[in-house]
Amino acid sequence: MKKIAVLPGDGIGTEIVAEAVKVLKALDLPLEMECALVGGAAYEAFGHPLPEATLKLAKQADAVLFGAVGDWKYDKLDRPLRPEQAILGLRKNLGLFANFRPAICYEQLVHASSLKPDLVAGLDILIIRELTGDIYFGQPRGRRIATDGHFPGAEEAFDTMRYSRPEIERIAHVAFQAAQKRSKRVTSVDKANVLETFQFWKDVVSEVGLQYPDVALDHMYVDNAAMQLVKEPKRFDVVVTGNMFGDILSDEASMLTGSIGMLPSASLNSAGQGLYEPSHGSAPDIAGKGIANPLATILSAAMMLRFSLNDEASALCIEAAVKKVLDQGLRTADIHSAGTTRVSTLEMGNAVVQAL
Ligand code: IPM
Ligand code: MG
Repeated sequence: MKKIAVLPGDGIGTEIVAEAVKVLKALDLPLEMECALVGGAAYEAFGHPLPEATLKLAKQADAVLFGAVGDWKYDKLDRPLRPEQAILGLRKNLGLFANFRPAICYEQLVHASSLKPDLVAGLDILIIRELTGDIYFGQPRGRRIATDGHFPGAEEAFDTMRYSRPEIERIAHVAFQAAQKRSKRVTSVDKANVLETFQFWKDVVSEVGLQYPDVALDHMYVDNAAMQLVKEPKRFDVVVTGNMFGDILSDEASMLTGSIGMLPSASLNSAGQGLYEPSHGSAPDIAGKGIANPLATILSAAMMLRFSLNDEASALCIEAAVKKVLDQGLRTADIHSAGTTRVSTLEMGNAVVQAL
């Protein structure tokens, strides 16, 4: 029996995770799923976005299925109490340094992309984002004057960008090894022309690359990478980059696939334990309306079966079911267009279960 910590979080998080849980249950696998509050929901109940009990559950579990956290109503809270600290805390505490964000354009959604169909047809990029370092976790964070999380009267605020050699080495190994299983190309994205941290990044990635002579490595500045992603996205295979650039580029890449509602993710530590979440956020503007796309979370559950539970067959089964519902023309609002059938979050989940 494998244990899954289920952390739906805020906003649409509860709606989309419910559909992914439904799909997992339909597979009738030996899984024990335990839910806990996280993010704003946990703050409301316990006064902290990542309560001890939630962290303990996540640590003990074989894998974590995560929804999303955040709501504008918490913007005035002191930073350590904001919902986003829950996911950052989970990533750091569980050592989830390797974030896989595949951007795959399903053929049924070629026309849902904001780019011309021929630019995205057949697109299959894997963004590997370093997840526990960079400016996200650099110290200090600046001096807080007010207690409401803002800085009235303050003269400056700062965050420190830093990477250590072992941090870069381990994510580089992950990227080269992933590329070996694909088309054997890695693009490392940096800002070495301006930032010392990213000259170091570039140097270390190049050194690690020498151990993988079968993989072609190229380097690209992040501004150029942002442009190339919309100009000629299929030139990329595996993209490896730091925490901050990876955050931005993965949102950009998601639109190539038709909708950010389609993008799953896996965050792994060195023991293979993982947290699985859609790449999108809590979308408070559409929460509770039953219109969110649950497919990114359902596809994240498939990644969970593949990476943490060693069940490739069930992962493929879920992915095939998702393709089938797309073939059937079912679409949530974000990917709906003329000639397709618009369905709710719940109906989409039910359709995937049917297709299984
Ligand atoms: C993501 C999100 C998070 C991040 C936020 C919610 C902290 O944008 O997972 O991409 O910045 O990493
Ligand atoms: Mg993001």
